[in-house]
Amino acid sequence: MEYIRLSNGVEMPVLGYGVFLVSPEECERCVSDALSVGYRLIDTAQAYANEEGVGNAWRKSGLKREELFLVTKVWIANAGEEKAAKSIDESLRKLQTDYIDLLLIHQAYGDVFGSWRAMEKAYRDGKVRAIGVSNFQSGRFFDFAHYVDVKPMVNQLQCNTLIQQTAIEPILAEFGTRMMAWGPLGGQGVEGIVKSEELAAIGAKYGKSAAQVALRWLTQRGVVAIPKSTHKERMQQNLDLFDFTLSDDDMARIATMNQHDTGTVNFGDPQFVKYLIENYG
Ligand SMILES: NC(=O)c1ccc[n+]([C@@H]2O[C@H](COP(=O)([O-])OP(=O)(O)OC[C@H]3O[C@@H](n4cnc5c(N)ncnc54)[C@H](OP(=O)(O)O)[C@@H]3O)[C@@H](O)[C@H]2O)c1
Repeated sequence: MEYIRLSNGVEMPVLGYGVFLVSPEECERCVSDALSVGYRLIDTAQAYANEEGVGNAWRKSGLKREELFLVTKVWIANAGEEKAAKSIDESLRKLQTDYIDLLLIHQAYGDVFGSWRAMEKAYRDGKVRAIGVSNFQSGRFFDFAHYVDVKPMVNQLQCNTLIQQTAIEPILAEFGTRMMAWGPLGGQGVEGIVKSEELAAIGAKYGKSAAQVALRWLTQRGVVAIPKSTHKERMQQNLDLFDFTLSDDDMARIATMNQHDTGTVNFGDPQFVKYLIENYG
């Protein structure tokens, strides 16, 4: 495993396992499989309703708590200082731990400054080792990061070979914020990356699949990737990235595949915002 260092010195694995859309019942089995093949970073969220499955799996794994890196996210319904603080304690209970390694604000809506104050307090109290945000696009991120005391250590964004998030990189760098990629293989039901002939052709030179090339490209950029799979053999494949290095030419060739730099979700679209707030706020 390779690691990146966050702005506060915390070491974070550059590859992890995500559990979005993994049902609560299936989550424990999936995370147990992921831990058994070698994943040590698990990415969940209050909104995924499967934090308990993550907690059960790591407790049964026999791993020491310090061997794991647990990530969860405060959901919009828990925005605001008081509600966020309560939700952090609830996440700790469900994850069966007394600290979270990285806690993120899931979406940039509602009282995010209130949530952040609760997160800063949890950070100071030792309940959380690092704090950050998710889905904060460049302007929103700049405004937020400028006004808060503890600068976000991570921004988790939709990022992959087709959505490269290059425009936000200098803004993140200004605040010492590291990028974490959700949807690193293109997301659920999208096969443009894992079935890409171009990526497969690059992979053939190294004896690797298109998926492995796509993930290696991210980690080689220093972006943390959290692929999800419910299949153990794919979990294993997605982790088997650290015995090869993409050449500069291949890195540059993949950089030309960028199609929607800032992502396919328009977080500023009033219909999208209305939908999220009315259904989940
Ligand atoms: N912050 C946010 O708002 C946000 C949003 C979305 C996701 N996330 C996080 O990011 C994680 C990953 O994103 P994601 O789950 O949307 O998508 P993803 O990891 O990019 O892709 C998952 C899809 O790829 C398939 N897959 C996995 N490995 C494969 C391989 N080696 N070959 C072929 N297909 C493969 C999976 O199918 P099988 O399961 O059938 O193998 C699944 O359909 C999530 O689980 C979650 O933790 C965060």
